[in-house]
Amino acid sequence: MDIHTEITRNAYAKINLTLDILGVEADGYHRLRSVMQTISLHDVITVRRGKPGIRLICSDKEIPSDSRNLAYRAAESFCAVTGIMPEFEITLDKQIPHQAGLGGGSSDAASVLAAFNIMHDEPLTKRVLCNIGAGIGSDVPFFIYGGTVSVGGRGEHIEILPPIPVCHLVIVKPKFGISTAWAYRRLDEIRDDSIARAPDILITNSMIEYLNAGDWDRLPALISNDLEQPSIEKHPVIAEIKRQMVNLGSKGALMCGSGSAVFGIFGSESEAVNASSELNEYGDVYTAYTIHPDTETDSELI
Ligand code: C5P
Repeated sequence: MDIHTEITRNAYAKINLTLDILGVEADGYHRLRSVMQTISLHDVITVRRGKPGIRLICSDKEIPSDSRNLAYRAAESFCAVTGIMPEFEITLDKQIPHQAGLGGGSSDAASVLAAFNIMHDEPLTKRVLCNIGAGIGSDVPFFIYGGTVSVGGRGEHIEILPPIPVCHLVIVKPKFGISTAWAYRRLDEIRDDSIARAPDILITNSMIEYLNAGDWDRLPALISNDLEQPSIEKHPVIAEIKRQMVNLGSKGALMCGSGSAVFGIFGSESEAVNASSELNEYGDVYTAYTIHPDTETDSELI
């Protein structure tokens, strides 16, 4: 088999350690500041040359396998920008729950962009991949880099932060999901302000300061998410899951992105595993840990 015929990659999920929503723009999109972190929970993407066109085969039949799927759109965009003929088959083994705030669809899209780029001897820089990704979804630029990253703008401004030490996590995905568009819209209604928030008081800035100083112990106390309030008002069980996680020994618990999943930070893998067995009544439960994809052997050329 030709060296560039097939590539398999892990597409990792993310959590937002902070998420400050600054204000809303004329087109309805929001400016934000966030510290984002890749975690070990992942989908697996395989890209191979195939018949003319783009064919996406997804293990989860509830997820569309046409241009509504961000991985499909990533393949289309890569071909449009590079002029490469679309002749690919993509298989997507889904593990990351959707409508969870874990960035699964965006991570799949970023993995497709990265895999196509490797397959074609890297004609595009990471910066260009980010620009393409920003047109597909706000979280895609983050996933082009991964690790511990400070994000700004609508998600397209990326600054790599020092990698945090391994944090052990429990993630609970309730039976219901939350639409990202709804979460942002509802926040606007609740806030009832068009006044942009002053960037100097953002929790994200304090988090970045502590992470740059290597002050890891402060991390669990500083996690925060502006999108929590609207979601908790509609689904109070999110607050209950957070409380339960703290009762079970979590050092800090927070809703993931726009929800509905919740993550808790635990002191060790065994503490996380013990807590996870007590949370099943709330939905699907996962244990995971923070990772830095560059140090993982996540990319494979066959
Ligand atoms: O870009 P993405 O597909 O993740 O966005 C989904 C929805 O979330 C958008 O249609 C928009 O309503 C909202 N959103 C926003 N501001 C952002 C990111 C997302 O209002 N920065």
